[in-house]
Amino acid sequence: MDTQKAHWSKNAAVYEIYPMSFKDSNGDGYGDLAGILEKIDHLNGSENSLGIDAVWICPFFKSPMRDWGYDVTDYTDINPMFGDMKTFEKLVEEFHARGIKIIIDYVGNHTSDQHEWFKESRSSRKNKKRDWYIWHDGITVNGERLPPNNWVSIFGGSVWEYDKHTDQYYLHTFLKEQPDLNWHNPEVREAMGQVIDFWVKKGVDGLRIDAFYNFIEDKLLRDDTINPTYANPHDGSYWTLKHNHSLATTANLGVVADFTKEALARHPNLLIVAEAYVSPQDMHAFHELIDNERFTVFNFTILGRQFKVSVYKPLIDEYLLGTPDNSDPTKRPGPKFLPNFTLGNHDMSRLVSQIGEAQARVAVFLQFMLPGLKFIYYGDEIGMTDTHIPEENIRDWAARLIFKQQKSRDPERTPMQWDDSEYAGFSSHKPWLPINDNYKTVNVAHNDRDPKSMLSLYKSLIRFYHGHDFLHSSQYVPRDSVSENVFSFELININTPGKRFIVYANFGDTIERELLPEDASSPTIIFCTSDRTSTHGLPKYLELLPYEGYVLEI
Ligand code: GLC
Repeated sequence: MDTQKAHWSKNAAVYEIYPMSFKDSNGDGYGDLAGILEKIDHLNGSENSLGIDAVWICPFFKSPMRDWGYDVTDYTDINPMFGDMKTFEKLVEEFHARGIKIIIDYVGNHTSDQHEWFKESRSSRKNKKRDWYIWHDGITVNGERLPPNNWVSIFGGSVWEYDKHTDQYYLHTFLKEQPDLNWHNPEVREAMGQVIDFWVKKGVDGLRIDAFYNFIEDKLLRDDTINPTYANPHDGSYWTLKHNHSLATTANLGVVADFTKEALARHPNLLIVAEAYVSPQDMHAFHELIDNERFTVFNFTILGRQFKVSVYKPLIDEYLLGTPDNSDPTKRPGPKFLPNFTLGNHDMSRLVSQIGEAQARVAVFLQFMLPGLKFIYYGDEIGMTDTHIPEENIRDWAARLIFKQQKSRDPERTPMQWDDSEYAGFSSHKPWLPINDNYKTVNVAHNDRDPKSMLSLYKSLIRFYHGHDFLHSSQYVPRDSVSENVFSFELININTPGKRFIVYANFGDTIERELLPEDASSPTIIFCTSDRTSTHGLPKYLELLPYEGYVLEI
């Protein structure tokens, strides 16, 4: 048995805070760092807290806020609208005192076009920072000057922006105000490495690497392949192409993979979670490359999927079982693998809006029973839903540019609903985005009074998760179920051989009966998502009401 103490991230429930929308402390309509501190009791350290282990705070660095902070002008300074360094230091101190780890966003793919680095780079072809970004003359076809290739920005249009001043194009994967850094340049890597060191010194415990697989592009700038399955091949959107050259693969990530490994080696307690919307197979390829159990690629596989066992199960099986295991010492060891499950974030429609409230309860139950890090998006713990924002009021600039092609991200970014007072207790001022109409009942205070609320479910799941060792050190073994609506798997505790736990989740709106294993002599329910007291059919079978989840010890 491994006698080394497991890294905190192996057993962590992480809570994502979108700082603009969590709590406004100074009445300007925007959330801030002092607001986050004010709400520390909600997170952990008091009897009634959620009990989360870590927070991931989205960007709070200096920025013109073109992409709401994902366009940084100074990586080591705080945007005054969020507070100052002193407040951040206080936040670190108080969060650590309550055992809450801090993960920050690391927006390394690009800077703002207002960053001093880009201003210098743009100033002249001879500037010493010219090569910190990706510049190109473009190509001439039939006498016409064109961008170097067909790559499309995630936010629409070509990734190449022509810059008259020096008569060249620069590359931007996102907005034209977000020029991509050139990670092939060692000076860029050196400068960006210093950014990591700076924040670790300040006490930061983890990094969420933004747009990880966008860091490196094909050096030859070859055209991306047309996506033959996309329905609107001529709409010019990101989805018209397959991105086989504009996105990094494990084959060309080279210097970035080394950079990541070096950062993990320099900082032996640092966790790195990388953003990449890729298949389980590709996630494992990244895990193999970096091969460190403090590194994981965000697992978005079930996020936004149809709520069906036949959709979830193959994805979860492939994710958890698709990596070689280390149990056979005669085999080449598999990569170190820190699994994670994510059900929502600031770029995706809210969980309840996607699959429904009863269904969301089942998904969250599964998230806590499956191995690995759990990412919870602020507000999901009270069942917040997307807020309709009329097109003319959209604040997500990317969506305004390409509204027809990409859904706005404002609906999932509206202010946290704390209580039923004006502006939902978020602010004393009209907030930057409207409060959802449902705030009178969908709010923390209201949820707190109701033992059947989403918040109560989250709290009991987090407490159950913390209180049961088998949820931290088990092997996932898929099981067949009688009903196609029931997702079932077994957890075999590695530390206590012989102990077996079976998880059942009913994805459907009908009552289901699941047969228990024949050797289950005295099956005991140790967790149930509802407070049902009627017969469950034990010990012969387990009866599940619609959308119920159970854990049985057998
Ligand atoms: C990531 C962020 C998203 C941002 C983009 C550009 O995908 O999650 O919010 O717009 O990167 O930085």
